[in-house]
Amino acid sequence: MTTKTGRNTCLVNSTPGAPLGVNVVGYGYYLPNEVITNHDLAGMVDTSDQWILERTGIRSRHRAAKEQATSDLAIAAALPALERANITPAELDTIIVATATPDSPVPAVSCVVQAGLRAHNAAAMDVGAGCSGFLFALHTAACFVRAGAAHRVLVVGAETLTRVTDYGDRRSCILFGDGAGAAVVTSPEAGAESTTPRSSDGLELLYSALGTDGEMASLIEIPAGGSRSPASEATIRDREHYLRLDGQAVFRQAVRRMAEAARDALDATGLKAGDIDWILPHQANARIVTAVAEQVGVPTERAMLDMAETGNTSAASIPITLGRARESGQLAAGQIILMLAFGAGLTWACQVWRVRE
Ligand code: UT7
Repeated sequence: MTTKTGRNTCLVNSTPGAPLGVNVVGYGYYLPNEVITNHDLAGMVDTSDQWILERTGIRSRHRAAKEQATSDLAIAAALPALERANITPAELDTIIVATATPDSPVPAVSCVVQAGLRAHNAAAMDVGAGCSGFLFALHTAACFVRAGAAHRVLVVGAETLTRVTDYGDRRSCILFGDGAGAAVVTSPEAGAESTTPRSSDGLELLYSALGTDGEMASLIEIPAGGSRSPASEATIRDREHYLRLDGQAVFRQAVRRMAEAARDALDATGLKAGDIDWILPHQANARIVTAVAEQVGVPTERAMLDMAETGNTSAASIPITLGRARESGQLAAGQIILMLAFGAGLTWACQVWRVRE
């Protein structure tokens, strides 16, 4: 199906709003212990708690310990997700990790996760789509499950962004934090085959679409450390191995692309803005979230804001927010959740899920 932007890959039932036969049966998240507050940052660059809070909605963010790599965070998020799904690592057939901050360029983080979980029967791969990565990975899992090529897929979004954050750049260092979130995706049949789920984590997928505009790639980038500009003394001196961001341009694109993607989703599913119980967006900036909700016509109190204590955790932000929403009792059976992501690439994504009975 082609949407208004004409750039999407899209999954939608021919009966609008009907389930796609793809379920989430367990999810979990992990945040490392160490915390960096706005006051800590004000001791490093010329900024203040008030500026950061007013402009972003962020008060503090977590930082991985020196000995923790992205795969460690991913495994720590996967374990509670598997437990709640009542699925053992050996029952997984696929692992997909979304990340922009892998342990190392080779191998894929997902392979390290496979070994760490002892998920010996799973094929593993990474997906790179910046802050949209978790929804890109969920979409990939959904396509595998619908094709009958996979039955129990572990999808993880995991990041150690503090390792690529330039703590000399006040325009970007205020945003980023570390963390991971995970979800177990199954077909309805595979879920029924397994022993009784321990949790009430069920979500069923109604719609999923992805979009990309590579012509705007330079708005968010790590210039060096890859094949175009391998790491050298000069690239390190010029701080080119850190993440760079054109904040204002990214802000405008984020609002525009996520609002368009949400409107496409409503058109395709036949849902109205009033049917949306929760917008669950990537947690980049509270002002972006509020602007998107306003443009889509959903009351802003129905847009989840969860960046105050976590910051922007890129591919991890959506599953972390989902897990924390369950913990705080925000989710109830029958609710419709509109997930929205936007990030480096540029990439964006939208999914509609229903909370199962
Ligand atoms: O996750 C992927 C997607 N990423 C995003 O979505 C991030 C999107 N962008 C943003 O969230 C915002 O653009 C930022 C939070 C990065 C910046 O906020 P802004 O409201 O767009 O600020 P600005 O860049 O327009 O800067 C306004 C002023 C400037 O001063 P002048 O030129 O007006 O005197 C900046 O130099 O604020 C200054 N400024 C700061 N002041 C204190 C920029 N950063 C800071 C800071 N503390 N940390």
